[in-house]
Amino acid sequence: MKRVDDFRLMFGKQEFVPIMIGGMGVDISTAELSLEAARLGGIGHISDAMVPTVTDRRFKTKYVKNKLQQYKFNVENSDKSVVQFDLGLLAEATALHVGRTMEAKRGPGMVFINCMEKLTMNAPRETLKVRLTAALDAGIDGITLAAGLHLGSFALIEDHPRFRDARLGIIVSSLRALQLFLKKSARTNRLPDYVVVEGPLAGGHLGFGMDWSQYDLATIVAEIRAWLQAEQLDIPLIPAGGIFTGSDAAAFLEAGAAAVQVATRFTVTKECGLPEDVQQEYLRASEDDIEVNLISPTGYPMRMLKGSPAIGNGIRPNCEAYGYLLDAKGSCQYIDAYNREMAQLPEGMKVKVWDKTCLCTHMRNFDLWTCGHYTHRLKDTTRKDEDGRYRILSAEHVFHDYQFSTEHRIALPEA
Ligand SMILES: Cc1cc2nc3c(=O)[nH]c(=O)nc-3n(C[C@H](O)[C@H](O)[C@H](O)COP(=O)(O)O)c2cc1C
Repeated sequence: MKRVDDFRLMFGKQEFVPIMIGGMGVDISTAELSLEAARLGGIGHISDAMVPTVTDRRFKTKYVKNKLQQYKFNVENSDKSVVQFDLGLLAEATALHVGRTMEAKRGPGMVFINCMEKLTMNAPRETLKVRLTAALDAGIDGITLAAGLHLGSFALIEDHPRFRDARLGIIVSSLRALQLFLKKSARTNRLPDYVVVEGPLAGGHLGFGMDWSQYDLATIVAEIRAWLQAEQLDIPLIPAGGIFTGSDAAAFLEAGAAAVQVATRFTVTKECGLPEDVQQEYLRASEDDIEVNLISPTGYPMRMLKGSPAIGNGIRPNCEAYGYLLDAKGSCQYIDAYNREMAQLPEGMKVKVWDKTCLCTHMRNFDLWTCGHYTHRLKDTTRKDEDGRYRILSAEHVFHDYQFSTEHRIALPEA
């Protein structure tokens, strides 16, 4: 049986180990994790979710503090339409995040940025354009357009000098979504360089409804592949979601995939941004501890651990500091849910909000433990030490396990 290392991802004449580590916001797929993927000859992702708070944490900038100061007068107001991002500062933060990562890049692989188009930021078009342009300016190797795919994104950057040289890809969960994107961006005369096909077992937001379990990744990939062949379109396909062993990956590559995108197994590595106590929660999780629910104010189903502190937490919306989910009218589903609960709160009671969550605050604080379906298998990928804690792995260990393993074997760290 073949292994992943028998295959290569080709972008023109450039070849890569066909392993892409998926973007995980907010700073779960860190610069360090993406740089390891690149060093090892594959492709890593940083994320562009909430970049100003990420640079504050990493480079001691004060974007969040200053924005909160500017909009402090509005904190008690349920109307958040005045809260706007300063586009110049947004570009600056993105330049810092991307630029520092690219300066540190070593080795034959590439670093891409995962761009969450669902972050509408109270001005969807303008903020998206700034984020994409600033990432290209700062030398990112490629951009993966994710959740909430904005059909006009290619057009937003078509005048950028790097529009045809940077790698641009999209994530879809159905043939229909791909067809719509290609139709809408046909005018730019530029096809995506790759298409990540994300199935229902992935972590983060899902491109399916609550009937996600009715769908199957291999079937969707085969359907998209057949359509591309019929249309004589040669776009590399990269399946994602539930690819847990090197053999799972090799099976997709043998069936014609150009590479695979994986994430869950890297959530328990040292280079991942999750705090170690949270990583232990992922490692301890059983299948029953994982659910897909609708608490994300994006409106998309999201997979997470049922024990996430974010669930039910009724904090006051933090839009003056963050505000990434505000739509073009300054609304967010969490604000509506919070206001409804506050209006009917009995005196002296602490507010709980169960149907929606303040995604910005909880993702930023690593209190919403989003995860892939096979998180319950992570405990089989490492050892338990005498103190009862699971050993955190290196990204290199996990990457090489995908690359070289056969027969669904998973290499454990040294005893
Ligand atoms: C913790 C976590 C966070 C994620 N965050 C994002 C994200 O911000 N944007 C995105 O497009 N995909 C996100 N994903 C999806 C991954 O990039 C990837 O496509 C998917 O999880 C692959 O499946 P696997 O986790 O079963 O390997 C996330 C996945 C995980 C596990």
